[in-house]
Amino acid sequence: MDTEKKVNGFVGGLGFILAAAGSAVGLGNLWSFPYKTSQHGGAAFVFVYIISVIVMGFIVMIAEIYLGKRAQANPVSSYKKINNNLGWIGLLSIFVPFLVTCYYAVLGGYTVKFTLNSFSDNTSVMQSFSGNVGEVILYTAIFMILVMVVIMAGVQKGIEKSSKILMPILFVILVGIVMCSLFLGNGVLEGLNYYLNPDFSALGFDGVLAAMGQAFFSLSLGMGVMISYGSYTGKNIKVGKSAMMIAIFDTLVAFLAGLAIFPAIYHYYAETGIELTNSGVVLMFSSLPIVFKSLGIAGNIVSFFFFGMVSIAAITSAISMLEVATQFIIQKFSIKRKKAIAIVGSIGYLVSVPVGISLGFALTGKEGMTIAGQDWLTFFDLIGNTVLMPVCAFGACIALGWFTFKGKNAKENLSSNYLCSQLEEDGLKLGKFGKVFSFMVKYITPILIAVVEIFGIIDIVFPTQNGAREFSGNGLVVVVTAYAIMLVFIVLYFLFLKKKETGSNEDEITKNLS
Ligand code: PFF
Repeated sequence: MDTEKKVNGFVGGLGFILAAAGSAVGLGNLWSFPYKTSQHGGAAFVFVYIISVIVMGFIVMIAEIYLGKRAQANPVSSYKKINNNLGWIGLLSIFVPFLVTCYYAVLGGYTVKFTLNSFSDNTSVMQSFSGNVGEVILYTAIFMILVMVVIMAGVQKGIEKSSKILMPILFVILVGIVMCSLFLGNGVLEGLNYYLNPDFSALGFDGVLAAMGQAFFSLSLGMGVMISYGSYTGKNIKVGKSAMMIAIFDTLVAFLAGLAIFPAIYHYYAETGIELTNSGVVLMFSSLPIVFKSLGIAGNIVSFFFFGMVSIAAITSAISMLEVATQFIIQKFSIKRKKAIAIVGSIGYLVSVPVGISLGFALTGKEGMTIAGQDWLTFFDLIGNTVLMPVCAFGACIALGWFTFKGKNAKENLSSNYLCSQLEEDGLKLGKFGKVFSFMVKYITPILIAVVEIFGIIDIVFPTQNGAREFSGNGLVVVVTAYAIMLVFIVLYFLFLKKKETGSNEDEITKNLS
């Protein structure tokens, strides 16, 4: 007889760390980090990024993993366990990654296409592929199906197992490519100099904001993911140490991606004429293929491994985004896992179709297919990532810092040392760092997140045009839409979820929903 109690979660600490690292390491590290670094003054950007990871990212990550671990349930139930009025933050944290999936899957489809096309000419694919609706829809579907298959197999057999296999492969390929890049010869030093020698004058406030936002996105924070994955961990896991390893690994991968890309771009500058500073968003999909092409057949092979690695990174991230909604649906509606992911994945895919078409329009310079003056991808990204994500991250800090433990009097409620002792009693053992963490999560980190939110909004509504800030009606529409969505979720929560049972991880076992 099977005497071991079945649990719905990761088998071990390493499985959890790799799965969470799989979520964190994605297009954010391999695609946006290098291009944002190139736009905002090289190492100066990297410097602010690392500070943001330490003072905000790391703190929010511990908070979210702990919230999930403590409740052993989906984000809505996790917040409800703290206070019945906070559950809407969980609901919003489920919606945001779902929204992100709808464009992430399109980009994921691009990476799959570039991988498979590595042995032909990838240099003009960006143009020809992005404008070809049928192909974009097909590759987005392939990407989505890969993600759904893993989630279908469950937390242990799907998510944990795939992370244990894919993450080491990704890392080995990345290190290999860095090696190739560093030994290219001419131009390598210039590339390294650009990347590692800070130019703070090129950073500006915009750069600081971009670095802060990037840190959140890259670590998958404010998205319910760390709550959900945290809920699948057992008692013996060390939250602080795990969060540190995840954050270090994620930052290391982003840093290595820069080491792979900058020297290569500089080395091939003479042949390709590509300058880093004007590569921007197209750095990965246009500039790198030109570099690969100039390497001949060896370039095809490097291209295959490079884009294969990016696909892997994107898949493990998308898995985490969709798992959040899947977990909630399984637990709230007592639906089987297979059915839940079929529903979540299909809706996500349907929405990603117009996103893919709209992106193709934008990239090929066609008019039309915009919302509020933006292509759909940018629109979704602004709503999800710029406006709503910080709200969820802020919510995690406030919920943990101010609502989880009630003191006897105002003095205790205001004291971060009191919070620290309560957290310790509750099993969050952070040693000497406990007091710092408690103070940060209660006071400092929420303020910093509020700054990210407020200036993010200012940047949307009053974007800088020709050196001066100007009001943008479209920007206002974006922000109003985002807050309207938030309001809808708040209302939905109070109407339909507040007084109802919203389930926990155990349900998947006890109700036989796997
Ligand atoms: N962290 C991922 C990346 O850097 O690409 C992106 C991501 C994953 C965002 C999971 C949101 C999320 F829920």
